[in-house]
Amino acid sequence: MFRRLTATAALLAAALTPTLAGTASAADAPLRELADARGIYLGTAVTGGKLTGAYADTAAAQFDSVTPGNEMKWGSVEPVRGQYSWTGADRIVDFAEAHGQEVRGHTLVWHSQLPSWVENGTWTPDALRTVMTDHVTTEVSRYKGRVDHWDVVNEPLNEDGTLRRSVFGATLGESYVADAFRAARAADPAAKLYVNDYSTDGIGAKSDGMYALVKRLLAQGVPIDGVGFQAHLILGQVPSTMEANLRRFADLGVDVAITELDIRMTLPATEAKLARQKADYAAVTRACLAVTRCAGLTVWGFTDSDSWIPDFFPGEGAATPYDENLSPKPARAGIAEALAPGTPPGPAGCTAAYTVQSQWGGGFTGQVTVRNTGTAPLTGWRVVWEYPAGQRIAQAWNATVAQTGTAVTATNLPYNGTVPAGGSVTFGFNASWAGSNPPPTVLGCG
Ligand code: G3I
Repeated sequence: MFRRLTATAALLAAALTPTLAGTASAADAPLRELADARGIYLGTAVTGGKLTGAYADTAAAQFDSVTPGNEMKWGSVEPVRGQYSWTGADRIVDFAEAHGQEVRGHTLVWHSQLPSWVENGTWTPDALRTVMTDHVTTEVSRYKGRVDHWDVVNEPLNEDGTLRRSVFGATLGESYVADAFRAARAADPAAKLYVNDYSTDGIGAKSDGMYALVKRLLAQGVPIDGVGFQAHLILGQVPSTMEANLRRFADLGVDVAITELDIRMTLPATEAKLARQKADYAAVTRACLAVTRCAGLTVWGFTDSDSWIPDFFPGEGAATPYDENLSPKPARAGIAEALAPGTPPGPAGCTAAYTVQSQWGGGFTGQVTVRNTGTAPLTGWRVVWEYPAGQRIAQAWNATVAQTGTAVTATNLPYNGTVPAGGSVTFGFNASWAGSNPPPTVLGCG
């Protein structure tokens, strides 16, 4: 709430500030400033051991919240019962304080990255409950007043929305969730307490289960402040119901946050895929902006060199907004443009529809319709696609079309760049084909 009020003032100021007024200059502004002006935080997961040099500089300059990628997990902080190791976590919290950043504490109770003495122990319900609440109390107390949001319980649900039979779920049933939150609240009454999960980003069985769980917890008076949506997404698959999903949780009276956003693709990254990723990052950012109780958005690593994706999904990667050399990717511009003052929140602003109008031996005429699905005029557009079967563009009208290998980029001409909300423009081209003429594998508009 505080953030949204500051945001109103900041937005007014930003509207008067020439450097932030247009999309082009907004893209150059630090993401954290753009986010702050829109009343949300923009965070990143970080690896504590890398917080030097250019990695640290970018993390500090662009983000106003950090989440330890691994350093606050139970296995990291209490590998041996009763023996705590805070070095890694302290380093990140110190870094955040030195750079005016918030901290998302991640995570207190999770079935993964547990120390083996917890995971493989033999537990009576009472003994496990005590061990769990002691752990929560110890960790939250240590960072009292220094961690703004805690992922108190992480990934409590199965894919079908039922309670995961982790050591906690199997031994204690759903009551462990309530007990973890109560212990966290007692240890730091000011910290915002979240439950966090993946594959709950759109409306579906798992998010329905989360919705029901949060409703039950609230009805029992459990001190839960927010719901985190991890958003480990796949290129081109931002759930169309994401905004509606965030909103239904917010309507329960809790905050929501995007907590671990990344958008993976099959490697290698191409210009067309990166353009699609830009639109996807923008769409997620807009979904958060459209829901007043969305507190912020965190990316799960800001550079491709610090992403978990290649290790867990062989052959996939390029999932973050900066490349491995810390150069900004189109995805970073997608976030910046969605955050730019005056960009309306809500669904992404444009779609492209590709059709073959006529086809003959070796040649065809294609047409693409660009539709403005946003609520403000488009002031320029670009459509990118990828041909899977060697098709080559020969000549185009109503757009400038360039092709490099399989990747095609079409940009507006001076007379058709402006498209009113709800409006559309069409361009066409002649091209060649051989063997077969399948539609583009990737098609994006931005
Ligand atoms: O630290 C050891 C290192 O000493 C060793 O040489 C190396 C060899 O594999 O492993 C290192 O540990 C790895 C650790 O990350 C730190 O890099 C673990 O193997 C690896 O499993 C661990 O992966 C983490 C993963 O959680 C574990 O599930 C990722 O970094 C971390 O980004 C990821 O984060 C999770 C969130 O906490 C919850 N949501 C899903 C998200 C992605 O899986």
